[in-house]
Amino acid sequence: MKIFHIVGARPNFMKVAPVLTALKGRKNVEQTLVHTGQHYDVNMSDIFFEQLGIPAPDVNLAVGSGSHAKQTAEIMMRLEPVVVERQPDLVLVYGDVNSTVATALVCAKLGVRVGHVEAGLRSFDRTMPEEINRLVTDQLADLLFTPSEDGDENLRREGIAEEKIFRVGNVMIDSLVRLLPAARKTLQTKTNDLPERYALVTLHRPANVDDSATLKGILESLLEVNRDLAVIFPAHPRTRKRIADFGLQAGQLRVLDPLPYVDFLGMQSRATVVITDSGGIQEETTYLGVPCLTVRENTERPITVSMGTNVLVGRDPQKLRGELGRVLAGNAKKGTVPPLWDGRTGERIADIVIGRPSGA
Ligand code: UD1
Repeated sequence: MKIFHIVGARPNFMKVAPVLTALKGRKNVEQTLVHTGQHYDVNMSDIFFEQLGIPAPDVNLAVGSGSHAKQTAEIMMRLEPVVVERQPDLVLVYGDVNSTVATALVCAKLGVRVGHVEAGLRSFDRTMPEEINRLVTDQLADLLFTPSEDGDENLRREGIAEEKIFRVGNVMIDSLVRLLPAARKTLQTKTNDLPERYALVTLHRPANVDDSATLKGILESLLEVNRDLAVIFPAHPRTRKRIADFGLQAGQLRVLDPLPYVDFLGMQSRATVVITDSGGIQEETTYLGVPCLTVRENTERPITVSMGTNVLVGRDPQKLRGELGRVLAGNAKKGTVPPLWDGRTGERIADIVIGRPSGA
């Protein structure tokens, strides 16, 4: 059985690693890893491959950045001949990035089966580019691997046939479970550079960073946080660029380059609080039991709010201040780890994939 994995952006890498490993141990499986090149900086891509033990991609489409249409179209144009030539039996796509939807479109039109890992998540906010990617990918996929029950319900409501839906748990947590010991070790070597208590911040959503007034407001809130708690801010290239383009000041915030996976995981595990607009980090903090304040009005990962440590603070500085006050007073929201976030999701996906070869 020929299986393709298509990845392109940073959040895909921790999801593909466990599935690659699980399928490596199975009989008659030939795997091909395709990197679309959506993320290309060393610290957005290569370092993740290295730390997660992902083999070098068999194919790199090197599409780079561009508008949504351009990037998606480039991926489609460069991927199509590869799929036509190599004839995979199944193509696995991950998450909700442009590489995910572009691949689903190419394969659906070629009649090649697609499996979507992390299916069914919905923010119900179509201004978010990822929501469009999720909706389209799930309509086109043949196998839909969901992390939690809300995913199954969303898919049913959208008319997806029950037999295509497989609740397998959260695959990103597999990588976390595997690398947490290494992350803690790495952290120990750096404790001298780290304050005892700190807020770890990430921001990169277009809705937060592409508008000058919004980004200015968020930075002002973070400067206020920084008076009570040191703010450590590994910034996505997009965010760095916007801060410079808009002539904004990050003042006393400790703005760093994006961190490698293991280093960031270590920092999360010891953070007093995490402030973020990322999707995956809402889940990682829930697993780690670290308070998470999400700078968004909605989330496609509601289980992190209903069961986990996540609180949506939107862009309201008062809400952020109030929730931060709770954390500093030792009254942070407590949470539990959702079912099937157990480090074995990659194996469950492999079982299903192998049990359902093409044409089955
Ligand atoms: C993408 C995903 C988003 C995910 C995020 C994680 C889509 C629609 N968005 O957003 O869901 O949360 O990745 O990081 O797929 N850039 C670099 N170096 C890189 C990559 C990008 O400098 O290695 C810069 C470029 O200025 C580029 C910008 O980042 O214009 C945006 O990159 P892109 O991949 O289009 O989207 P992200 O914002 O990274």
